[in-house]
Amino acid sequence: MTTTSNRRKPLGELRSQRWFASEDIRGFAHRQRTQQMGMNREEFMGKPVIGIINTWSDASPCHAHLRDRAEAVKRGVWQAGGYPIELPALSVGEVMVKPTTMLYRNFLAMETEELLRSHPIDGCVMLGGCDKSTPGLLMGAISMNIPAIYCPAGPMSNGRWRGHLTGAGTHTKRYWNDLQTGKISKDDWIDLESRMTRSNGTCNTMGTATTMTSIADAMGLCLTGASSIPAADSGHPRMAAACGMRAVEMVWEDLKPSDILTKASIHNALVTYMALGGSSNAAIHLIAVARRAGLALTLDDMDDMAAKIPVLVNLFPSGRHLMEDFYFAGGLPALLHKLEPHLDGSAMTVEGRTIGEAVQGSECFDDDIIRDPDNPVVPLEAGRTLVLLRGNLAPQGAIMKTSAADPDKLRHRGPALVFDSPADMAARIHDPDLDITKDTVLVLRNSGPVGGPGMPEWGNLPIPKKLLEQGVTDLVRISDGRMSGTHYGTCVLHVAPESAIGGPLALIRTGDFILLDALAGRLDVELSDQELADRRQGWTRPPSPYTRSFTALYQRHVSQAHEGCDFDFLEGTDPVPEPSIY
Ligand code: FES
Ligand code: MG
Repeated sequence: MTTTSNRRKPLGELRSQRWFASEDIRGFAHRQRTQQMGMNREEFMGKPVIGIINTWSDASPCHAHLRDRAEAVKRGVWQAGGYPIELPALSVGEVMVKPTTMLYRNFLAMETEELLRSHPIDGCVMLGGCDKSTPGLLMGAISMNIPAIYCPAGPMSNGRWRGHLTGAGTHTKRYWNDLQTGKISKDDWIDLESRMTRSNGTCNTMGTATTMTSIADAMGLCLTGASSIPAADSGHPRMAAACGMRAVEMVWEDLKPSDILTKASIHNALVTYMALGGSSNAAIHLIAVARRAGLALTLDDMDDMAAKIPVLVNLFPSGRHLMEDFYFAGGLPALLHKLEPHLDGSAMTVEGRTIGEAVQGSECFDDDIIRDPDNPVVPLEAGRTLVLLRGNLAPQGAIMKTSAADPDKLRHRGPALVFDSPADMAARIHDPDLDITKDTVLVLRNSGPVGGPGMPEWGNLPIPKKLLEQGVTDLVRISDGRMSGTHYGTCVLHVAPESAIGGPLALIRTGDFILLDALAGRLDVELSDQELADRRQGWTRPPSPYTRSFTALYQRHVSQAHEGCDFDFLEGTDPVPEPSIY
């Protein structure tokens, strides 16, 4: 493990000096143009330049406060003797960006890397939080490998409607189903619109945003505990200012992502992921993050960890509280303290101390919200954060979050009802004449990384209205797409290889019998190898309508879900070339 405290980088080694200290005509222009913005020479000369990568946007409510937070970060940078420059980056706001933000995670990762590479930057603070923004920002910063600190947007305040807690995503789906069956009225539904999401900040359930910011925190990439601070809390801008201060010190200490992201921190990420009851999406992002750091991580590693660490955090969708409650219960430091026997405490953090030192003595103030390992929210035998499935329907794996599924459906045999696209599904699913029972297995294909494209969150297929009316609330559903981390149900996700590149999901037909055994880690279709081979003969790859621009690039270079869905030319640890400044 690198120790940082006794190293102080000489001024001449700062990369920003290539821009600002240069004696040639270019150096003149860099100094001149900075003074054009009203800066005095002494305000930036000889100082670490801290880039603030800001994913603020009017189209991203989760990040609506980040414009202000950038100012707080700047305050910290100035106080520590640095020079801040704010750089806007793609917001990837989960709700508005179509067809899916996942299509643009790698875009943000590339943008982050290139913003840092092409500007006179010595260290950075990244402002993000909404689902894909965390992995996107981290992947770029890891590849660039300059001192970097992650400042998470923080969760929105608790929602409450007519005396009931309402969590973003989870309750949208619940009340939608209630609307379909007349349990709530159209007026109730409209009333809900303005009450569930009360403040700036990311989803307050254990969705992808909270899962990823908490994991980034546990990996040592945030000021420890920063991920739990609600966006609207006055502690949040104080934390942002502290990120700015610390980023300057990290530059002098030369404390880089490669010092922080090690086997130990990835191990801690997995322990935390499972104890959180975290989003299935994290399985993809963590593999991509690890690969950027040159660390091997597989779905099998995750499955092994999930078999050991039960869900301890009592948040929707696996539990029944929200992030504000988690914060008041002690937040991530309290959870990590309870997990200490399972963690590798030697992993380094951006604070320049180990994670073990950082969480020492962290108190838990509510043992129902942050459970002890011997009193989990969901016992391991009843459900896990992640179960890896393999079989003739998913030779390279599929995953399931059994802690948020119907326990009676974990072993299931039923006939497939196959949809080729969400449009096909939408056209037929609520048809009163649809041949469907509670045993039917809904299958959606062409929703993978290439087929989606971008692997949209289509995996939580809706329950047909006629079954909802019969009291059926869950069905086995299978897709090569993803599911929102805030959602629940017996959903088999991320089937690999995906149907659009000829995975077995492409070959099945309505009426084929599917066998799911989540307890044994199996997903099969009752078809012989010969039958599958015969059907493959007749299969042709569907043509893609995307011939230009980013989507075409994406389809050509994206890897499969079990490989992290990064681009082949971005993963790995090839050094980022410094730009020529002549
Ligand atoms: Fe942004 Fe959920 S929509 S975090
Ligand atoms: Mg989400």
